[in-house]
Amino acid sequence: MKRDTTRVLTLALPRGRILDEALVLFKKAGIDLSPAATENRGRKLVVPIEREGLRVLVVRDADVPAYVEHGAADLGIAGRDVLEEQGRDLYEPVDLGIGRCRMVVAEPAGAPVDDSAHIHLRYATKFPEITRRHLQARGTVAEVIKLYGSIEIAPLVGLADRIVDLVSSGETLRQHHLVEVETILEVSARLCVGRAAAKLHGTRIDDLVRRLERVAVGA
Ligand code: PRP
Repeated sequence: MKRDTTRVLTLALPRGRILDEALVLFKKAGIDLSPAATENRGRKLVVPIEREGLRVLVVRDADVPAYVEHGAADLGIAGRDVLEEQGRDLYEPVDLGIGRCRMVVAEPAGAPVDDSAHIHLRYATKFPEITRRHLQARGTVAEVIKLYGSIEIAPLVGLADRIVDLVSSGETLRQHHLVEVETILEVSARLCVGRAAAKLHGTRIDDLVRRLERVAVGA
């Protein structure tokens, strides 16, 4: 099969903090994606970056793997949290070391769960699959309640006994009088590549991977 070396590659980036960190990393790797930040502030979600032969899609972090798996984007950046939760068929050639945080189990400081009491436990989380796998590995039987945000409220209002959520500074947990029980996952953002893209644009993607490996945080 003839390889297309000229086609524009499409890169799906998650909006928010990872977008800013990713742009810094790409700059260090000699790839200037700054129009993606400026244009995105103007609400533009598809940003052509002709000089680099790229087109950037700015999407919700949890949507990046779908774009990449289905070939609508050739590659993307997604957190390990999102990738492990969705378990999609993607290559993950580089841990970029940005967007670092931890996924933890937490509970109210004033109402710790007694694991041996065999009561009906409820865990609230944005990550039901990871939570179920964790509970299964622990041999804990519990109900998992899927929420879409502001997870820390759940134990305060009696929706759940514990939460599984991301922690960065720990401030959100502290403000809601929650304490960590254990860490489930160390999280950072990874480059992910679709299988079709890896076949069709292997040379360009390998070059990009090598450049990003050199500048990855903690590399
Ligand atoms: C994330 C996470 C915690 C918070 C942790 O929430 O779900 O709530 O950040 O950060 P900290 O440890 O530095 O306080 P996000 O801001 O993504 O919003 P969400 O609660 O709506 O998910």
